[in-house]
Amino acid sequence: MEEFIKQMPKAELHLHIEGSLEPELMFELAERNGIQLPYSSVEELRKAYHFSNLQDFLDIYYEGTKVLITEQDFYDLSFAYFTKAHEQNIIHAEIFFDPQSHTARGVELSTVVNGITKAMEQAQIQFGITSHLIFSLLRHLSEEDAFLHLEQAIPLQHHFIGIGLDSSEIGNPPEKFQQLYQMAGELGFKRVAHAGEEGPPQYIWDSLSLLQIDRIDHGNRAMEHENLLNELVLLGMGLTLCPLSNLKLKVVKDLRDHPVKKMLNLGIKATINSDDPAYFGGYLNENLIEVSKALHLDKADLYQLAFNSFEVSFADDMRKREMLVKLDQFYSNFNNE
Ligand code: ADE
Ligand code: ZN
Repeated sequence: MEEFIKQMPKAELHLHIEGSLEPELMFELAERNGIQLPYSSVEELRKAYHFSNLQDFLDIYYEGTKVLITEQDFYDLSFAYFTKAHEQNIIHAEIFFDPQSHTARGVELSTVVNGITKAMEQAQIQFGITSHLIFSLLRHLSEEDAFLHLEQAIPLQHHFIGIGLDSSEIGNPPEKFQQLYQMAGELGFKRVAHAGEEGPPQYIWDSLSLLQIDRIDHGNRAMEHENLLNELVLLGMGLTLCPLSNLKLKVVKDLRDHPVKKMLNLGIKATINSDDPAYFGGYLNENLIEVSKALHLDKADLYQLAFNSFEVSFADDMRKREMLVKLDQFYSNFNNE
Protein backbone atom coordinates (compact mmCIF):
# COMPACT_ATOMS: atom_id res chain seq x y z
CA MET A 1 0.00 0.00 0.00
CA GLU A 2 2.86 2.40 0.80
CA GLU A 3 4.28 1.87 -2.68
CA PHE A 4 0.85 2.54 -4.19
CA ILE A 5 0.60 5.83 -2.24
CA LYS A 6 4.13 6.92 -3.13
CA GLN A 7 3.72 6.27 -6.85
CA MET A 8 0.19 7.65 -7.20
CA PRO A 9 0.01 11.02 -9.01
CA LYS A 10 -1.70 13.59 -6.77
CA ALA A 11 -2.34 17.26 -6.07
CA GLU A 12 -1.73 19.16 -2.85
CA LEU A 13 -4.24 21.95 -2.19
CA HIS A 14 -3.50 23.03 1.39
CA LEU A 15 0.12 23.90 2.03
CA HIS A 16 1.40 27.00 3.81
CA ILE A 17 4.77 27.64 2.21
CA GLU A 18 6.07 29.15 5.47
CA GLY A 19 5.05 25.88 7.15
CA SER A 20 7.41 23.95 4.88
CA LEU A 21 10.44 25.71 6.40
CA GLU A 22 12.55 22.83 7.72
CA PRO A 23 14.72 23.54 10.80
CA GLU A 24 17.92 22.97 8.78
CA LEU A 25 16.96 25.68 6.27
CA MET A 26 15.77 27.93 9.11
CA PHE A 27 19.25 27.79 10.65
CA GLU A 28 20.91 28.31 7.26
CA LEU A 29 18.80 31.40 6.51
CA ALA A 30 19.28 32.76 10.05
CA GLU A 31 23.03 32.59 9.53
CA ARG A 32 22.83 34.07 6.02
CA ASN A 33 20.81 37.03 7.33
CA GLY A 34 22.64 37.52 10.65
CA ILE A 35 19.60 36.61 12.75
CA GLN A 36 19.93 35.03 16.19
CA LEU A 37 17.44 32.19 16.73
CA PRO A 38 16.27 31.47 20.29
CA TYR A 39 17.45 27.84 19.86
CA SER A 40 21.01 26.56 19.88
CA SER A 41 20.54 23.68 17.43
CA VAL A 42 18.23 22.00 14.93
CA GLU A 43 17.56 19.27 17.54
CA GLU A 44 16.58 21.80 20.20
CA LEU A 45 14.26 23.54 17.74
CA ARG A 46 12.58 20.25 16.75
CA LYS A 47 12.06 19.47 20.45
CA ALA A 48 10.03 22.69 20.76
CA TYR A 49 7.50 21.35 18.24
CA HIS A 50 4.93 20.14 20.77
CA PHE A 51 1.62 21.90 20.59
CA SER A 52 -1.55 21.70 22.65
CA ASN A 53 -3.65 23.70 20.20
CA LEU A 54 -3.57 25.88 17.06
CA GLN A 55 -2.39 29.03 18.88
CA ASP A 56 0.60 27.23 20.43
CA PHE A 57 1.70 26.26 16.95
CA LEU A 58 1.03 29.68 15.39
CA ASP A 59 3.29 31.40 17.96
CA ILE A 60 6.25 29.23 16.92
CA TYR A 61 5.35 29.34 13.22
CA TYR A 62 5.33 33.17 13.09
CA GLU A 63 8.70 33.22 14.94
CA GLY A 64 10.14 30.94 12.27
CA THR A 65 9.11 33.23 9.40
CA LYS A 66 11.46 35.93 10.72
CA VAL A 67 14.47 34.37 8.96
CA LEU A 68 12.83 34.97 5.54
CA ILE A 69 14.11 38.32 4.28
CA THR A 70 15.32 38.28 0.66
CA GLU A 71 13.85 37.09 -2.63
CA GLN A 72 16.45 34.31 -2.61
CA ASP A 73 15.20 33.14 0.81
CA PHE A 74 11.64 32.82 -0.51
CA TYR A 75 12.94 31.08 -3.63
CA ASP A 76 15.00 28.59 -1.62
CA LEU A 77 12.09 27.87 0.72
CA SER A 78 9.66 27.31 -2.16
CA PHE A 79 12.03 25.31 -4.34
CA ALA A 80 12.81 23.00 -1.41
CA TYR A 81 9.06 22.29 -1.18
CA PHE A 82 8.76 21.59 -4.90
CA THR A 83 11.76 19.23 -4.79
CA LYS A 84 10.02 17.28 -2.03
CA ALA A 85 6.70 17.44 -3.89
CA HIS A 86 8.33 15.97 -7.01
CA GLU A 87 9.79 13.10 -4.95
CA GLN A 88 6.26 12.40 -3.70
CA ASN A 89 4.64 12.40 -7.17
CA ILE A 90 2.72 15.61 -6.51
CA ILE A 91 2.02 16.95 -9.98
CA HIS A 92 -0.02 20.02 -9.03
CA ALA A 93 0.16 22.24 -5.93
CA GLU A 94 -1.85 25.19 -4.62
CA ILE A 95 0.19 27.08 -2.09
CA PHE A 96 -0.73 29.61 0.58
CA PHE A 97 1.52 32.39 1.73
CA ASP A 98 0.86 34.88 4.55
CA PRO A 99 1.76 38.34 3.14
CA GLN A 100 1.03 40.17 6.42
CA SER A 101 3.57 38.14 8.38
CA HIS A 102 6.29 39.47 6.04
CA THR A 103 5.19 43.06 5.36
CA ALA A 104 4.85 43.59 9.15
CA ARG A 105 8.63 42.96 9.33
CA GLY A 106 9.39 45.43 6.54
CA VAL A 107 9.74 42.86 3.74
CA GLU A 108 8.17 44.12 0.50
CA LEU A 109 5.28 42.14 -0.95
CA SER A 110 7.07 42.04 -4.35
CA THR A 111 10.16 40.43 -2.73
CA VAL A 112 8.02 37.61 -1.31
CA VAL A 113 5.99 37.11 -4.49
CA ASN A 114 8.99 37.20 -6.84
CA GLY A 115 10.86 34.58 -4.82
CA ILE A 116 7.91 32.20 -4.62
CA THR A 117 6.74 32.61 -8.23
CA LYS A 118 10.26 32.12 -9.65
CA ALA A 119 10.42 28.80 -7.80
CA MET A 120 6.96 27.90 -9.17
CA GLU A 121 8.16 28.59 -12.73
CA GLN A 122 11.33 26.54 -12.19
CA ALA A 123 9.28 23.65 -10.72
CA GLN A 124 7.18 23.60 -13.88
CA ILE A 125 10.26 23.60 -16.14
CA GLN A 126 12.30 21.10 -14.13
CA PHE A 127 9.61 18.78 -12.73
CA GLY A 128 6.48 19.51 -14.80
CA ILE A 129 4.64 20.50 -11.58
CA THR A 130 1.89 23.06 -12.17
CA SER A 131 1.02 25.35 -9.27
CA HIS A 132 -1.05 28.30 -8.11
CA LEU A 133 -0.48 30.80 -5.34
CA ILE A 134 -3.14 31.80 -2.77
CA PHE A 135 -2.88 35.13 -0.96
CA SER A 136 -3.87 34.23 2.59
CA LEU A 137 -4.99 36.82 5.10
CA LEU A 138 -4.53 36.57 8.86
CA ARG A 139 -7.88 36.51 10.61
CA HIS A 140 -6.52 37.68 13.99
CA LEU A 141 -5.72 41.03 12.32
CA SER A 142 -8.35 43.58 11.27
CA GLU A 143 -10.40 43.53 8.09
CA GLU A 144 -8.91 46.96 7.38
CA ASP A 145 -5.37 45.53 7.34
CA ALA A 146 -6.56 42.74 5.05
CA PHE A 147 -8.05 45.37 2.69
CA LEU A 148 -4.76 47.29 2.62
CA HIS A 149 -2.98 44.09 1.57
CA LEU A 150 -5.58 43.12 -0.99
CA GLU A 151 -5.18 46.56 -2.59
CA GLN A 152 -1.40 46.00 -2.78
CA ALA A 153 -2.10 42.65 -4.41
CA ILE A 154 -4.10 44.11 -7.30
CA PRO A 155 -1.10 45.10 -9.47
CA LEU A 156 0.34 41.60 -8.91
CA GLN A 157 -3.00 39.86 -9.32
CA HIS A 158 -1.90 37.72 -12.27
CA HIS A 159 0.28 35.84 -9.76
CA PHE A 160 -2.62 34.83 -7.49
CA ILE A 161 -5.44 32.40 -8.15
CA GLY A 162 -7.31 33.34 -5.01
CA ILE A 163 -7.47 34.56 -1.43
CA GLY A 164 -7.53 32.53 1.76
CA LEU A 165 -8.13 33.10 5.48
CA ASP A 166 -5.96 31.48 8.14
CA SER A 167 -4.49 31.97 11.66
CA SER A 168 -6.42 31.95 14.97
CA GLU A 169 -9.95 30.78 14.15
CA ILE A 170 -11.92 30.98 17.40
CA GLY A 171 -13.07 34.55 18.08
CA ASN A 172 -12.37 35.63 14.49
CA PRO A 173 -15.52 34.50 12.67
CA PRO A 174 -16.11 34.65 8.91
CA GLU A 175 -18.43 37.68 9.16
CA LYS A 176 -15.41 39.80 10.18
CA PHE A 177 -14.21 39.48 6.55
CA GLN A 178 -17.47 39.61 4.64
CA GLN A 179 -16.71 42.89 2.81
CA LEU A 180 -13.21 41.74 1.95
CA TYR A 181 -14.48 38.51 0.40
CA GLN A 182 -17.11 40.44 -1.52
CA MET A 183 -14.40 42.67 -3.02
CA ALA A 184 -12.11 39.71 -3.77
CA GLY A 185 -14.97 38.00 -5.62
CA GLU A 186 -15.62 41.14 -7.68
CA LEU A 187 -11.91 41.25 -8.57
CA GLY A 188 -12.11 37.68 -9.88
CA PHE A 189 -10.22 35.89 -7.10
CA LYS A 190 -11.21 32.36 -6.12
CA ARG A 191 -12.11 32.31 -2.43
CA VAL A 192 -11.14 29.73 0.18
CA ALA A 193 -11.08 29.92 3.99
CA HIS A 194 -9.96 27.83 6.94
CA ALA A 195 -13.18 26.85 8.71
CA GLY A 196 -14.18 24.27 11.28
CA GLU A 197 -10.60 23.34 12.21
CA GLU A 198 -11.07 24.51 15.82
CA GLY A 199 -14.05 26.80 15.20
CA PRO A 200 -17.69 25.62 15.41
CA PRO A 201 -19.79 24.28 12.50
CA GLN A 202 -21.47 27.70 12.28
CA TYR A 203 -18.15 29.10 10.94
CA ILE A 204 -18.42 26.60 8.06
CA TRP A 205 -22.02 27.63 7.30
CA ASP A 206 -20.99 31.30 7.42
CA SER A 207 -17.95 30.76 5.22
CA LEU A 208 -20.28 29.24 2.63
CA SER A 209 -23.04 31.82 2.82
CA LEU A 210 -21.28 35.07 3.82
CA LEU A 211 -17.86 34.56 2.23
CA GLN A 212 -19.10 32.58 -0.79
CA ILE A 213 -16.10 30.29 -0.72
CA ASP A 214 -15.15 27.88 -3.50
CA ARG A 215 -13.39 25.39 -1.20
CA ILE A 216 -13.08 24.77 2.56
CA ASP A 217 -9.76 24.37 4.32
CA HIS A 218 -10.13 21.67 7.01
CA GLY A 219 -13.89 21.60 7.71
CA ASN A 220 -13.54 18.74 10.23
CA ARG A 221 -16.27 20.01 12.50
CA ALA A 222 -18.89 19.66 9.75
CA MET A 223 -19.15 16.14 11.21
CA GLU A 224 -21.16 17.60 14.10
CA HIS A 225 -24.01 18.74 11.88
CA GLU A 226 -25.90 16.40 9.58
CA ASN A 227 -27.58 19.18 7.57
CA LEU A 228 -24.20 20.75 6.94
CA LEU A 229 -22.80 17.44 5.66
CA ASN A 230 -25.76 17.14 3.30
CA GLU A 231 -25.17 20.70 2.10
CA LEU A 232 -21.49 19.96 1.38
CA VAL A 233 -22.51 16.97 -0.74
CA LEU A 234 -25.18 18.99 -2.55
CA LEU A 235 -22.73 21.80 -3.33
CA GLY A 236 -19.98 19.38 -4.42
CA MET A 237 -17.76 21.37 -2.08
CA GLY A 238 -14.07 20.42 -1.83
CA LEU A 239 -12.53 20.00 1.64
CA THR A 240 -8.78 20.12 2.22
CA LEU A 241 -8.22 17.87 5.23
CA CYS A 242 -4.85 17.66 7.00
CA PRO A 243 -4.63 14.56 9.26
CA LEU A 244 -1.14 14.94 10.78
CA SER A 245 -1.83 18.63 11.44
CA ASN A 246 -5.10 17.64 13.16
CA LEU A 247 -3.23 15.12 15.29
CA LYS A 248 -0.42 17.50 16.27
CA LEU A 249 -2.82 20.39 17.05
CA LYS A 250 -5.17 18.09 18.99
CA VAL A 251 -8.10 18.60 16.62
CA VAL A 252 -8.34 14.78 16.80
CA LYS A 253 -7.05 12.68 19.72
CA ASP A 254 -6.09 9.79 17.51
CA LEU A 255 -5.94 9.34 13.73
CA ARG A 256 -8.53 6.57 14.14
CA ASP A 257 -10.97 9.40 14.96
CA HIS A 258 -10.20 11.29 11.75
CA PRO A 259 -13.35 12.03 9.69
CA VAL A 260 -11.90 11.47 6.20
CA LYS A 261 -13.28 7.96 5.67
CA LYS A 262 -16.78 8.92 6.85
CA MET A 263 -16.70 11.96 4.59
CA LEU A 264 -15.70 9.86 1.57
CA ASN A 265 -18.49 7.41 2.32
CA LEU A 266 -20.98 10.29 2.37
CA GLY A 267 -19.76 11.48 -1.04
CA ILE A 268 -17.98 14.61 0.21
CA LYS A 269 -15.09 15.72 -2.01
CA ALA A 270 -12.44 15.31 0.67
CA THR A 271 -8.72 15.64 -0.08
CA ILE A 272 -5.61 14.97 2.02
CA ASN A 273 -2.90 17.61 2.50
CA SER A 274 0.08 18.39 4.70
CA ASP A 275 -0.72 21.97 5.94
CA ASP A 276 2.67 22.76 7.58
CA PRO A 277 4.80 19.67 6.93
CA ALA A 278 8.00 20.93 8.59
CA TYR A 279 6.12 21.27 11.88
CA PHE A 280 3.75 18.30 11.83
CA GLY A 281 6.08 15.41 11.02
CA GLY A 282 5.22 14.62 7.42
CA TYR A 283 4.58 15.67 3.85
CA LEU A 284 1.62 14.56 1.77
CA ASN A 285 2.61 10.91 1.37
CA GLU A 286 3.21 10.52 5.10
CA ASN A 287 -0.25 11.96 5.73
CA LEU A 288 -1.77 9.47 3.29
CA ILE A 289 0.20 6.55 4.72
CA GLU A 290 -0.64 7.30 8.36
CA VAL A 291 -4.32 7.96 7.78
CA SER A 292 -4.60 4.84 5.59
CA LYS A 293 -3.14 2.70 8.37
CA ALA A 294 -5.38 4.22 11.03
CA LEU A 295 -8.62 4.01 9.03
CA HIS A 296 -7.86 0.97 6.85
CA LEU A 297 -8.26 2.91 3.61
CA ASP A 298 -8.11 0.74 0.51
CA LYS A 299 -6.84 1.51 -2.98
CA ALA A 300 -10.28 2.67 -4.10
CA ASP A 301 -10.34 5.24 -1.24
CA LEU A 302 -6.87 6.46 -2.15
CA TYR A 303 -7.82 6.71 -5.81
CA GLN A 304 -10.88 8.76 -4.77
CA LEU A 305 -8.73 11.11 -2.66
CA ALA A 306 -6.35 11.74 -5.57
CA PHE A 307 -9.29 12.09 -7.98
CA ASN A 308 -10.86 14.68 -5.67
CA SER A 309 -7.56 16.55 -5.37
CA PHE A 310 -7.56 17.12 -9.14
CA GLU A 311 -11.29 17.70 -9.44
CA VAL A 312 -11.55 20.42 -6.75
CA SER A 313 -8.26 22.07 -7.72
CA PHE A 314 -8.22 25.43 -9.49
CA ALA A 315 -6.33 23.99 -12.46
CA ASP A 316 -7.92 24.77 -15.84
CA ASP A 317 -10.08 22.09 -17.46
CA MET A 318 -7.39 20.90 -19.85
CA ARG A 319 -4.84 20.40 -17.06
CA LYS A 320 -7.47 18.69 -14.91
CA ARG A 321 -8.23 16.22 -17.69
CA GLU A 322 -4.53 15.56 -18.24
CA MET A 323 -4.00 14.85 -14.54
CA LEU A 324 -7.07 12.60 -14.29
CA VAL A 325 -5.83 10.58 -17.27
CA LYS A 326 -2.44 10.17 -15.53
CA LEU A 327 -4.23 8.94 -12.42
CA ASP A 328 -6.33 6.42 -14.37
CA GLN A 329 -3.26 5.13 -16.21
CA PHE A 330 -1.45 4.69 -12.92
CA TYR A 331 -4.44 2.92 -11.35
CA SER A 332 -4.94 0.40 -14.13
CA ASN A 333 -1.19 -0.25 -14.54
CA PHE A 334 -0.63 -0.72 -10.80
CA ASN A 335 -3.50 -3.16 -10.49
CA ASN A 336 -2.26 -5.20 -13.48
CA GLU A 337 1.34 -5.48 -12.26
N1 ADE B 1 -1.50 28.92 9.40
C1 ADE B 1 -0.66 27.93 9.10
N2 ADE B 1 -1.23 26.74 9.37
C2 ADE B 1 -2.47 26.99 9.84
C3 ADE B 1 -3.55 26.19 10.29
N3 ADE B 1 -3.50 24.87 10.31
N4 ADE B 1 -4.66 26.80 10.73
C4 ADE B 1 -4.76 28.14 10.73
N5 ADE B 1 -3.77 28.93 10.31
C5 ADE B 1 -2.63 28.38 9.88
ZN1 ZN C 1 -3.79 25.54 7.03
